[in-house]
Amino acid sequence: MAINKIALYGAGNVGATTAHWLANMELGDLVMFDIFGQVAAGKALDLYESGPAMGFDGRITGSSDPGIIEGSDVVVVTAGVPRKKDPVTGKFPSRDELVKINQDVMSVVSENIKKYAPDSIVVLVTNPLDAMCHVVKHVTGFPRERIIGQAGALDTARYKTFIAMELGVSVEDVHGIVLGGHGDTMVPLPRHTSVAGIPVTELISQEKLAAIIDRTAKGGGEIVGLLGYSGYYAPAAGTAIMVESILKDKKRVIPCAVYTEGEYGYHDLFLGLPCVLGRGGVERIIPMDLNESERAMLDHSAEAVKAVVDVLGYD
Ligand code: 2OP
Repeated sequence: MAINKIALYGAGNVGATTAHWLANMELGDLVMFDIFGQVAAGKALDLYESGPAMGFDGRITGSSDPGIIEGSDVVVVTAGVPRKKDPVTGKFPSRDELVKINQDVMSVVSENIKKYAPDSIVVLVTNPLDAMCHVVKHVTGFPRERIIGQAGALDTARYKTFIAMELGVSVEDVHGIVLGGHGDTMVPLPRHTSVAGIPVTELISQEKLAAIIDRTAKGGGEIVGLLGYSGYYAPAAGTAIMVESILKDKKRVIPCAVYTEGEYGYHDLFLGLPCVLGRGGVERIIPMDLNESERAMLDHSAEAVKAVVDVLGYD
């Protein structure tokens, strides 16, 4: 059987940490790309050298030449500019400015993916996530099955962590799902959350659940508040389980940003919905029976995503 080739397009904190998880999972050979000097080559070699100690196999190489991604089965994209202060003006870019900056980055990334890895499945992590998925779709023209945004995997992991913390139970026994866009309007679904099959609504008061939901929605910001920059362990872990489900054809059900074509009543918009991930990428979107208030929250989230997507200026 051919060995899988996984590309990490961007070797910053999230890209490199994803490589770290993936190397341990022995899912295939890893190639790391970063425009910034020799950082990809250096991190790749460092990680490769950890294999003998940790006992994992697989080649890991890095380069500042995007050609290194050639023929990849999966391309994980983390390249992009984070929201940070301008050192000269001391101001943060506006949301729209950041969208435009990363639209330019993502256009180049997408051209390279189209050129070097035209059959790949793209797992996108760069923010603003849902809008960046639109750029990849616009530039690559890949079918929707092969453009998958990572958000729900992370948001769900955070949600489950907070529930496990509240109840003092293993995270392994917490099941739940977070839909919608990757932002303050995301939609955690307590009615569909359980602890070993016991509805969470029987275990945690409404008030405490509301606080957990709020903390989940602001989870990215909480880490930025502590670190001064974005988190990367959990975003990378969310990405790694998606790559695993794809390459092992596990058909895991993971909420992903997916291009809607009528599902849940939405059209032509990337939005976080429960997806079956297998060797074909997004193989299915699972319908859910949402009640009125869940539907209203999802609509609100879709509107927020649409407002960012509109900044891209596509028809
Ligand atoms: C997060 O939620 C920045 O999207 C990243 O941590």
